This record gives sequence, structure tokens and C-alpha cells, in this order.
Amino acid sequence: RKVVALTGAGMSAESGVPTFREAQTGLWAKYDPQELATPEAFRRNPARVFSWYASRLQAARRATPHAGYAALVSLERFYAGGFTVVTQNTDGMHSRAGSGSVIELHGSMEAFRCVQCRHPYPSDAVLELAASDHEVPPPTCSKCGNFIRPGVVWFGEMLPGDALERAGQAAQAADVALVIGTSSLVYPAAQLPSMVIAGGGKVIEVNPETTPLSSQADVSWRATAGEALPMLVEALTREVH
Ligand code: APR
Repeated sequence: RKVVALTGAGMSAESGVPTFREAQTGLWAKYDPQELATPEAFRRNPARVFSWYASRLQAARRATPHAGYAALVSLERFYAGGFTVVTQNTDGMHSRAGSGSVIELHGSMEAFRCVQCRHPYPSDAVLELAASDHEVPPPTCSKCGNFIRPGVVWFGEMLPGDALERAGQAAQAADVALVIGTSSLVYPAAQLPSMVIAGGGKVIEVNPETTPLSSQADVSWRATAGEALPMLVEALTREVH
């Protein structure tokens, strides 16, 4: 009756959203993404980090959510009121595909804000500013004059407390967790499946590769998100009719 879908970068892979761990292209080929996604990197070179996020947002906006996203939207209808997506992704694809109950653990590339007072800044304006193939300095806050930064969680930063708390509650209450497209290496997200198990729920992993979670999962389904999720919805719908 209660289902939680925990998703990671592999969820977006079939929609062509470039991940961190993939080789970067064009202007960004010479940088290590793990070294751009930190508060220190932004302090050192705000233009570079801001422009990199603008280019990632642009790539995410150009991507079309694949059939697995639509399948999660169907599951939300199927388990009316009992289905939550908890994602580590910052690309906004779940909401764009039509999922209503989405917890973004690592923030969102759509949610730019002031580094100081957190006043929001529209992402469409970010894309206009950064449309050229050059590094551009971040805009400044209309309220306090400080730089605008992406609303994502950088390495070394705390996760948003309310999102983490709601994710923990969803995990503890879940009868079933679908763990889709995550390497299950990055904490605290990687600890959510253990909370599901501790609460008596079952864990179904969807991932073409083995992960540290595979041996603890009740089912470890070696398939991609785009293949597995539509099949799952089909099977559930067939059983009900
Ligand atoms: N369908 C399902 N899973 C897939 C697919 C696919 N089509 N393609 C790849 N995968 C799997 C990979 O096998 C891998 O286990 O997706 C996983 C992606 O792992 P990571 O790149 O480590 O992504 P994620 O687990 O989301 O990373 C967590 O780390 O990079 C930081 O903050 C960033 O949110 C991110 C966090």
C-alpha cells in the first residue's frame, strides 16, 4: 500500500542527461566535475561554476523523460496517496514528467538562489545569461547584492533537513522500495533502503550493474529503468484487471 521510489543518476541515463561521473564535453572537458561541485570551487571561480550549472540545466531541459518516468507517474495514480519519489537527481525530470510527490534530496538545478539571503532567482533568466559558449559571472541578488548560486547540494554541504526527514519517514513507512539507478554509495541517501528493511518493507533494486545494495535487496533486477518500470506497471495493471 505504501511504495517509495528512490532514484539516482541512472534514472536519467536513458534520457541522455549527462551525469557527473561521465566524461564532460566541450568547454567543460578539461575540468573534473567533483572539483566544480563544491562551495570552495564557487568561491574560487564563481563564473566557472555558475556557467557549468547553467550548461547542465540547459542539457536537462533539452532531455525528454523516457517511458520509465511515465511508469512512475502511473504508479503514483495506482497507489493513490501512498507513493513517493525520493531522488538524488537535480535535473527536475520527475516533476517535468508529471510526478506530484517528489522529494529532491540534493536540491534542484531549477532553483537558483542568493548565496547569502537565499532569495530565489528564475532559472529561465540564468539560461538567457549563460546562453553563450563562455564563462559568465553569476548575476547578483536584487535584495542584498551577493552572488546567485545553483540550489543544489554541493560536496561537503548538508542536505536540506526537511527533505531528508520526509524521505526518512517515507522509507520507514514503505511496504516496498524501488531503488532505481543509483550506485548506493553516496550517503545519507544510500542509507534509506536500510530504513525500509528495518521498517519491515521489501527492497527491489533496478540497476543493470551490481551495487553494494544488491546482496541485501529482496529482488535485484538487472535491467534499465526504461525497460523495467513500464514492465512493472504492465504486470501490476494486468493483475488488477
Ligand atoms: N537504468 C538504471 N540504472 C542505471 C542505468 C539505467 N539505464 N544506467 C546506469 N545505471 C546505474 C549505474 O549502474 C549506477 O549504479 O545508475 C547508477 C548511477 O550511479 P551514480 O552515477 O553513482 O549516481 P548516483 O547514485 O545518483 O550518485 C549519487 O553522487 O554524483 C553525486 O550528488 C551526486 O546525486 C549524486 C550522488
